[in-house]
Amino acid sequence: MPSPSRRTRGVASSRRQPPGATGRRLLVLHGPNLNLLGTREPSVYGHATLGDIDAAVQRHAASRDAEATCRQSNHEGQLVDWIQGAAAEGFEALVLNPGALTHYSIALRDAIAGTGLPVVEVHLSNVHAREEFRRHSVIAPVAAGQIAGFGPTSYLLGIDAALALAGRLPAAAAATPARRAAPSRRPGAAR
Ligand code: DQA
Repeated sequence: MPSPSRRTRGVASSRRQPPGATGRRLLVLHGPNLNLLGTREPSVYGHATLGDIDAAVQRHAASRDAEATCRQSNHEGQLVDWIQGAAAEGFEALVLNPGALTHYSIALRDAIAGTGLPVVEVHLSNVHAREEFRRHSVIAPVAAGQIAGFGPTSYLLGIDAALALAGRLPAAAAATPARRAAPSRRPGAAR
C-alpha cells in the first residue's frame, strides 16, 4: 500500500503539546494533487507551493492565538481517516480543500457529515467560473460553508471562518446586533 504523502511539521508540533493546550486547534487538509502546487497549472493555481501555503496558514493561525496542523494526501481513504479521527485528536474545526474529490467523493462527504466538527471547504480557484463539472460540490451541503477563488488567501479566510465556527473568533453574523432605537410613536398613530 502506498504511503500517503503527508506534511508532518504541524503534526509534530501539535503532538509535543497535549491536545487542548492552546484550546484552539485546527486541522487543515489538502486533497489529491495539491502536493504539486507551484508547478501544477500555475496559470490556474499560482506559484505558491504547498509548503508556502502551510507556512502562511500556520503564521495566520498563530496570529489568532490558534494552532493549525496541515496534512496532504492523494488518497481518499487517508483523508477519511483523518476526518474521522479529528475530534479524538482534539481538533475543534477543519479547513478542507478536497481537490478533485470535491466533485464526486461520497466517502468524504459522509465522513464530514459524521464528524460533528465544523468543516470549511476551500478552493484556490473559483470553481464556479471553470468547467461545468467543477461547479458541483458534493461536499458543500455538509460543509459549514465554501470559500473559493482567492488563491492561498482562501485558506486564511477558511482559518478565520473555522475559528468563528469554533467560537474562537467573533463572527459577523454572531455579533450582537446594534440595539435599535425604540420606534418613536406619533400620538394617535396606529400600532
Ligand atoms: C481545487 C479545485 C478542484 O476542482 C481541483 O480538482 C483541484 C483544486 C482548487 O483548490 O481550486 O485539485 O480544489
